[in-house]
Amino acid sequence: MAGRHFLQIPGPTPVPDRLQRAMHRQMEDHRSATFPALTRSILSRLPQVVHQTKGEAFVFPATGSAMWEAALVNTLNPGSRLLAPRFGQFSHLFIQTARNLGHHVDVIEEPWGEAADPAKIEAALAADTAHEIQGVLLVHNETATGVTSDVAAVRAAMDRAKHPALLYVDGVSSIASLDFRFDAWGVDCAITGSQKGFMLPAGLGILYVSEKALARVDSCTMPRAYFDLRAMRTNNAQGYFPSTPALSLLYGLDEALTMLLDEGMDQVVARHHRLATGVRAAVRAWGLHECARRPEIASDSLTAVVVPEGIDARTVIDLAFTRYDIALGSGLSEVAGKVFRIGHLGDMNALTLAGALAGVEMALADAGVLVTLGSGVGAALQHWRVGGNA
Ligand SMILES: Cc1ncc(COP(=O)(O)O)c(C=O)c1O
Repeated sequence: MAGRHFLQIPGPTPVPDRLQRAMHRQMEDHRSATFPALTRSILSRLPQVVHQTKGEAFVFPATGSAMWEAALVNTLNPGSRLLAPRFGQFSHLFIQTARNLGHHVDVIEEPWGEAADPAKIEAALAADTAHEIQGVLLVHNETATGVTSDVAAVRAAMDRAKHPALLYVDGVSSIASLDFRFDAWGVDCAITGSQKGFMLPAGLGILYVSEKALARVDSCTMPRAYFDLRAMRTNNAQGYFPSTPALSLLYGLDEALTMLLDEGMDQVVARHHRLATGVRAAVRAWGLHECARRPEIASDSLTAVVVPEGIDARTVIDLAFTRYDIALGSGLSEVAGKVFRIGHLGDMNALTLAGALAGVEMALADAGVLVTLGSGVGAALQHWRVGGNA
C-alpha cells in the first residue's frame, strides 16, 4: 500500500528516523579501549528516565519478560513466597514466570479492567506476621486492558503493613511514557524493554535495581547463569558487558535517551497524557467505552476499547489492517474478540493519532458499529486544539 503504515499497537512502537540512523552502523570491537564511553553514556543516563538516584540500571540483550526472570533470580532464594494482584494477561504472565522458577505466589484476583487494590495488598501483608512473603509483583501498566495501577499507593500500603517485602514493578508499557518514580515509590526492581517508550526495536531488556535489592544479589541462592547480575556488575564497572552486547540497539538506546531527556521526562509524561485524553474523548464520541473500569485508572500509553455486543473486535482489527493499513492491538486471552487496543506511546503526536483515529473510525463503521464518521476524530481534535502547544 502506498503511504505510511500506521503501527498503533502498544509495542513495538514506531522507531523514529533519528533512532534508525543512530543504529545504522558497522559493528565494532566491544572489548576495545573506546567502547566504555558508550556503556557509560547509557548507564549514567538510564536512571534519569525513572528518577532513580540510588541503585543501578542494567541492560541485557533480551526482552521485558526476561527481565522478570532476571529480577527474580538475582534477589530471591529458591521456593520463595510472593504476593501479586492479577488483573490482565501481563500480571498473569509475571506470576507464571515466578511459579515456573519455583516460587509460590499468593494471587489477589481482580477483574480484568481493574487495577491493583492497595488495601488488599496491605491486608495480605499485615496478615503475614512472620514476614514469609519476600516480594510483591506489580504490573504498573497492564497492557492487556489499558489500566494503570498506583505504585505509590501500593508502596504506602506496604509501609503501613510495616512489611519488608521487595517491590517488583513491571514497567514495560509505562517506563519512558508514564510518570515513574523509582526512588520516591520505593521500587526495588523495575522491569522494561526497548520496544515501547524507548521507541526502539525489541531486543534490550532493561532492569533497574534498588540498593536494598542489590544487597541480595551476592547472598541469594537462586541458580542463575546468563542473567547473573554479579557478572554484569563486574563488567559494567569497567564499561563492558559479560557477553556480546546488542551493539546497534545500544547506539539506538543512547540516542533515545538523548531524545527523551532533551524533551524532558515531565514533558514526555505530559505529552502522553494529553494524547491519551484525546483518544479517550474519541472513544466516548463513538459511544464506546474503555476496558478500564474507572477513568482514574485509564492508561495514558494505550487504550483498550470494548466493542459492542455482537461485534467481534477481531473483525475491526482485520478491516483496519487490510483496508486502511493500520495495525491495532488485539484482545488477549480473556478479552480476545471483546477489545481492540490503540497504542499511543512513544514517537507520537496529535496528528499521528488523528490519522490513526480516522482509520479506527472507518474500520468500526465497516464492521457495523454505529459510529458517525468524524465524531471521534473531531472530539480528539477539539481536545488537542484547545489543550494545544501554542
Ligand atoms: C506490561 C508488559 N509486561 C511484559 C511484557 C513482555 O515483554 P516482552 O514482550 O518484551 O518480553 C509486555 C509486552 O507487551 C507488557 O506489555
